[in-house]
Amino acid sequence: MNDTSSSDEEKAALETGRLLFAGECTFLVSAADENDLPPLGAPEVAFAGRSNVGKSSLLNKLTGRKGLARTSNTPGRTRLLNFFGLGGQLILVDLPGYGYARASKTDIARWNKLTEGYLKGRSQLRRICLLVDARHGLKSNDEQVMEELDGAAVSYQIVLTKADKVKPGSLRRLVEEVQATVARHPAAHPVCLTTSSETGAGIPELRAALATLAEAGPAE
Ligand code: GTP
Ligand code: MG
Repeated sequence: MNDTSSSDEEKAALETGRLLFAGECTFLVSAADENDLPPLGAPEVAFAGRSNVGKSSLLNKLTGRKGLARTSNTPGRTRLLNFFGLGGQLILVDLPGYGYARASKTDIARWNKLTEGYLKGRSQLRRICLLVDARHGLKSNDEQVMEELDGAAVSYQIVLTKADKVKPGSLRRLVEEVQATVARHPAAHPVCLTTSSETGAGIPELRAALATLAEAGPAE
């Protein structure tokens, strides 16, 4: 493949991603336990990661709707599984974060039961975006989650957040480091993406990656 055709393909992929996320986006449901999960429909992509890493902010930035998912300075903001539909083609799932130091034992137990149950048992779940704060890199609880997902053979991809807070050199080194780590994890996607919900960096590329998992749109 020559350079021209690969860049044409990249442009087409970016455009497909743009179109998917520019279309209809609706809040579907909040699930407090497994009985509240919506019936299986379009393919699902879930946003997981430590508390405060920027899951809800990334969802808002991807969809271009500021108030869609609730964000907060206070860790532990998202407590339910929130489902959002992209015109019947893809469902985005905002998850509660893990690793919140001040969470009660009851809250941690609830995260484990509800979120892990969903992550491991949902047949329509095509990928988990495992968000990692670019200032901190992979933490031991991230690696624990990765091992669990490897064990359950659930596909996941590391997406760095808050890239605006880190110098380009450190960011490049972190991406290399993460990619070396994920190479040892069988269920991990080999590419680590970099994003900022503040500046919008990496958002078109993430939209393009997620669009490859969506159901084909209505024929034109
Ligand atoms: P929980 O629901 O509590 O697990 O948190 P979350 O992962 O959904 O994080 P949320 O999106 O609520 O963001 C947490 C904080 O990080 C907020 O103060 C956001 O404004 C900030 N934040 C999120 N993304 C970015 C980013 O890309 N850059 C910067 N500078 N701040 C960000
Ligand atoms: Mg949240």
